Amino acid sequence: MLTDPLGRTIRYLRISVTDRCNLRCVYCMPPQGIPLSSHDTIMRYEEILEVVKVAAEQGITAIRLTGGEPLARMGITELVRMIASVPGIHDISMTTNGLLLERFAQELKEAGLKRINISLDTLKPDRFSRITRGGSFEQVWRGILAAEKAGLNPIKLNTVVMRGVNDDELSDLASLTLEHPWHVRFIEMMPVNNQEAWDDGFPPINQIFVALSEIKQRLAVLNLKPVQEKSGNGPARVFSIEGGQGKIGFISPISEHFCGECNRLRLTADGNLRPCLLSDLEIPLLPALRKGEDILPLLQQAVQLKPEGHTLQQNQRTFTRCMIQIGG
Ligand code: 5AD
Ligand code: SF4
Repeated sequence: MLTDPLGRTIRYLRISVTDRCNLRCVYCMPPQGIPLSSHDTIMRYEEILEVVKVAAEQGITAIRLTGGEPLARMGITELVRMIASVPGIHDISMTTNGLLLERFAQELKEAGLKRINISLDTLKPDRFSRITRGGSFEQVWRGILAAEKAGLNPIKLNTVVMRGVNDDELSDLASLTLEHPWHVRFIEMMPVNNQEAWDDGFPPINQIFVALSEIKQRLAVLNLKPVQEKSGNGPARVFSIEGGQGKIGFISPISEHFCGECNRLRLTADGNLRPCLLSDLEIPLLPALRKGEDILPLLQQAVQLKPEGHTLQQNQRTFTRCMIQIGG
């Protein structure tokens, strides 16, 4: 088993399969984009599979594929199928922007994908286009419906809350759960290399953060009731609206962080293990993999080096990677 010095057992591996994306969300990357990794520095599918096998032997049961945009990588369904065949992996999920879901939802489900998280920061098409720098709300909406039709379950919608950008829509977004069995999750924005001014028309960067307490206040009219979760892999605190079909979650990495329960490791598209999303610490895996060396000691090292927690409140700083290069 992979247990860190603080007794946290690692069951969950998040794998970024690409640092490319077909959107350019304002909180995820700078306006000019980021330098793209060259093809040969990105992990091949067989290499990812090798990591999954070693991880599964050490007690990892859940895999999430992220990006960039995972559906933008060719043959992603094949990777899902390969991972689904690894003994010990019981749960494969994906975090996507949803643009390509209409096309891929059914085959992903057939390949073994269980559930899906889709980013959705607004219900207003013009606003969606501004936040994502050009994306189509309607296309994502069709993607969400396609995911539901394909039987991916649960469907979780991720909303990054931003003052003066989408904070007037929290109640509308939460109310989606009245009609749909979806989970709507409100996420505090993390200052990960996104602290330079966004495009014209967005509020100054230091005004955009909205803390969990305020997010909850804004939803008070909905009279949310806490929900007892059976299985909690993740950091969301979960509620529901009386009579609603879905759930409402809150993810507060900044104001009430959940580092004490963290059960995950991350693998970047270029083959670095990250013990913590909010720390630049990385253990390179790719060179060892390509030399055919045993990677288990590196996995164990990453677990041993897992920080107790992050210090973002005290110490606002930038990171070497943007979110698009980590995968959330
Ligand atoms: N802060 C919080 N959440 C973010 N995401 C991307 N960047 C940030 C950020 N800076 C979210 C996306 C996506 C998930 C991978 O992480 O909305 O749903
Ligand atoms: Fe792409 Fe997701 Fe980043 Fe938006 S948040 S730019 S969809 S990776």
